[in-house]
Amino acid sequence: MASSAYKSYQTIERLHEAIGQEVTLNGWVYDTTGKGKLQFIKLRDGSGTVQCVVFKPNVAEEVFEAAKSLTQESSVRIVGTVRAEERAPSGVEVDVKEIKIWQIAKDYPITPKEHGDAFLMENRHLWLRSTRQHAIMRVRATIVKAIRDFFDGNGFTLMDSPILTPAACEGTSTLFETEYFDLGKAYLSQSGQLYGEASAMAQGKIYTFGPTFRAEKSKTRRHLTEFWMVEPEAAFFELADDMDLAEDFVEYIVQTVLKHRQQELATLGRDVTKLEKVRRPFHRMSYTEAVEWLNKNNVKLNRKQADGTEIQVDFPWGEDFGAPQEEALMQQFEKPCIVHRYPTEVKAFYMKRDPENPKVALAMDMLAPEGAGEIIGGSQREDDFDALKERILSHDLPLESFEWYLDLRRYGSVPHSGFGLGLERTVKWITGAEHIRETNPYPRMIYRIQP
Ligand code: 4AD
Ligand code: MG
Repeated sequence: MASSAYKSYQTIERLHEAIGQEVTLNGWVYDTTGKGKLQFIKLRDGSGTVQCVVFKPNVAEEVFEAAKSLTQESSVRIVGTVRAEERAPSGVEVDVKEIKIWQIAKDYPITPKEHGDAFLMENRHLWLRSTRQHAIMRVRATIVKAIRDFFDGNGFTLMDSPILTPAACEGTSTLFETEYFDLGKAYLSQSGQLYGEASAMAQGKIYTFGPTFRAEKSKTRRHLTEFWMVEPEAAFFELADDMDLAEDFVEYIVQTVLKHRQQELATLGRDVTKLEKVRRPFHRMSYTEAVEWLNKNNVKLNRKQADGTEIQVDFPWGEDFGAPQEEALMQQFEKPCIVHRYPTEVKAFYMKRDPENPKVALAMDMLAPEGAGEIIGGSQREDDFDALKERILSHDLPLESFEWYLDLRRYGSVPHSGFGLGLERTVKWITGAEHIRETNPYPRMIYRIQP
């Protein structure tokens, strides 16, 4: 059998297992300092960083000169011996024997000084190398794995939904449109849910996980035009089951990150005691209770009047919550809170009405604490043929495009429910990132498509 040499390559992350041994490292220079006979090279290889020490009397003349010539982000191969070093964050240092320069980098644009947001975003392809962005991306990868492990381990089958779709799912105002050969217009999917429902009727419990698109005009800290969403859908689940599932799921994600990403959370300066509190049961309240709470606590709504002046009013039952209401509500809580049973008018056409109060939908949003806002939106789905058809028509949606969706209510319709969790919103909350643009490697926003 052919051997795979790459498996024996040394990574900085595992150097503590090689104390006393000679190793070969490949990486980039993060920083250098020097004094007299000593040169210090802070080397990063993607897995971690380590200080490499070049002591003039111990190396050939060219090696010491090579060390002195290194600039930020120059690429090198270093051969040296691993030594335990208590004062180093990684617990080790490397005493250098040889240096091979792959390339000397000239004028790397991101220097250790502070840069503006626009500059960093233009250089996103390089910014990703910085310690903080590196840590956020590692947490993101762990969250993705936790998401898959949770559903795979709980009897959900992965059934991906298409990205090119013939119709809207979450309202027509945020659709990206494209020509689709001779078949007219196609739209980038806003949500895999409708297909997820069909898949659930085939597999029982499924999840779809992939990129989704919203032509959001909003320039906020929590909106992307392209984001990843995981959407479980389960036959025979009612709203209460859906909420229980969402709580189990979010608890699992947070506790998994705490277990595997302590170092990254420390790098990010995240207060992990807050995350440790994210344990079931979460808080729950109905939309109606939430409105009562807002009004009892004097959280007013700014309302523009006909003459242009603004007045402050009580929050009117029937309107959707915005970020200010959600943030005010969440200030009392350290754990997430599920708000359920929203007015039907502010929610999507496919949501089932509450048989006990047809003014509200069997909907639920999960709000995260610390100002993170909505991370989950979900509902029990309308399973009655006539009610759903009427809803499609009253929302001015093209009936022909939804005939297949109505089939799910023609052939063995059952109660079913699901939800969508936004990956980037979740990464933002767990890492404590200020802005959602830091939570996706190459974020897409209304005003940015480069790099
Ligand atoms: O609440 P939303 O719009 O729900 C749906 O799309 C349902 N079809 C999901 C379902 O029931 N299967 O979106 C779900 C989540 C939000 O809670 C939020 O976390 C995220 O997706 N999200 C966004 N994240 C980043 N940028 C945006 N523009 C987002 N819009 C929604
Ligand atoms: Mg929502």
